[in-house]
Amino acid sequence: MSKAAGPISRGVDAVDDWVNQRASVKSFYRQHLSEYWAPKNFNLWYFFGSLSLLVLVNQLLTGIFLTMHYKPDAEHAFASVEYIMRDVEWGWLIRYMHSTGASLFFAVVYLHMFRALMYGSYKKPRELVWILGVAIFLILMAESFMGYVLPWGQMSYWGAQVIISLFGAVPYVGEGLVEWIRGDYFVADATLNRFFALHVVALPMVLVLLVVLHLAALHEVGSNNPDGVDIKAKKDAKGRPLDAVPFHPYYTVKDIFGAGVFLMIAAFIVFFWPEGGGKFLKPDNFVMANPLVTPDHIPPVWYFTPFYAILQAIPDKLLGVITMGVAVLILFFVPWLDRSPVRSLRYRSWVSRVALGIFVVAFVRLGMLGLSQDSSTFELRLWTFVYFAFFILMPVWTSFEKTKPVPERVTS
Ligand code: HEM
Repeated sequence: MSKAAGPISRGVDAVDDWVNQRASVKSFYRQHLSEYWAPKNFNLWYFFGSLSLLVLVNQLLTGIFLTMHYKPDAEHAFASVEYIMRDVEWGWLIRYMHSTGASLFFAVVYLHMFRALMYGSYKKPRELVWILGVAIFLILMAESFMGYVLPWGQMSYWGAQVIISLFGAVPYVGEGLVEWIRGDYFVADATLNRFFALHVVALPMVLVLLVVLHLAALHEVGSNNPDGVDIKAKKDAKGRPLDAVPFHPYYTVKDIFGAGVFLMIAAFIVFFWPEGGGKFLKPDNFVMANPLVTPDHIPPVWYFTPFYAILQAIPDKLLGVITMGVAVLILFFVPWLDRSPVRSLRYRSWVSRVALGIFVVAFVRLGMLGLSQDSSTFELRLWTFVYFAFFILMPVWTSFEKTKPVPERVTS
């Protein structure tokens, strides 16, 4: 705004100066938005980072309103959720935006991770961005597991029972550990209370902190792109990368468009398919928790089922738990398992493409097997084997495959 303008804009300028002398808002804005140089060839896959942020904000806001009416008490929790659904004005919408929002969160984050695998976004210098991403994924899993327990339905109760009892497989201290986590001799009010505290206060704080660090780490080195070209290598006389545009307004506008399309799809799901045909919210969870009646089948929510299938593939409890844990933790090592000299799949051979394709099939198939009550042991083991083979053999094929020359400038 010009300094020669009227009293209002002079006042605004004065406040602006006052703030900026004390906190460098302008330089923050320049560094992270108007002069954050983003590659000009971002494609649709690059929507999922900002969409993850959008869904995170949705979860935080709807969570605040749910907490105003929810009662973290084994006697009242189930009824308080029913009260939200039936009597609180717009309560049903807030609740479904949150419960269906959790499924949307995982869908968006899985696609975001797949993009990183396609374009080698975890490779040098973005290893830390990836590591923080995997940490976010781990905390997100804990956060949604604890949230699922809060409505205190049959699935909440028995799901908690199954998952917490897995810790019993730890040698020597297992039983004590399980009791310590539950806070009682069985899943009970104490368990619900601590899960509430962790779900509503502790884990969201950790999640937000990790997301801030994830973005700070990304902005330190700059974004990758579908070509995997290092855009900082070619700059103009002013030191701006030739293949980049300022993030704001170019990508803020693009991301707002992506958010609009996403919100239309999300609204359709929330309004017309909020329980995801029993995949997002299980029918059994509309029955209050009953410690004396075990449901026939206790499958986890769809986004956990690939890992749950890996657990089922191994007959020994301890080995199963370790294998399932390793299935997630192995993600941390991807930047070092991938030995390829190029980042993007575009410049790798068919071997990398086929490997990633088979990995996706294995992940989806494991997810389906984890949902089913009578999955064949052979299939569970086959796809578990394929899942791990992808990571273990990655150093081999990425060292030997013939790559194509990466262009000096981005291609589109
Ligand atoms: C709450 C969850 C998450 C949020 C809010 C989030 C947010 C973002 C945003 C806004 C970006 C920049 C835009 C983009 O490149 O799409 C980004 C980039 C990135 N994220 Fe995430 N992220 C999340 C989870 C994850 C997870 C779970 C992983 C992997 C395990 C991951 C790995 C990456 C990588 C490697 C990049 C750099 C991509 C590139 O430059 O090509 N993120 N993230």
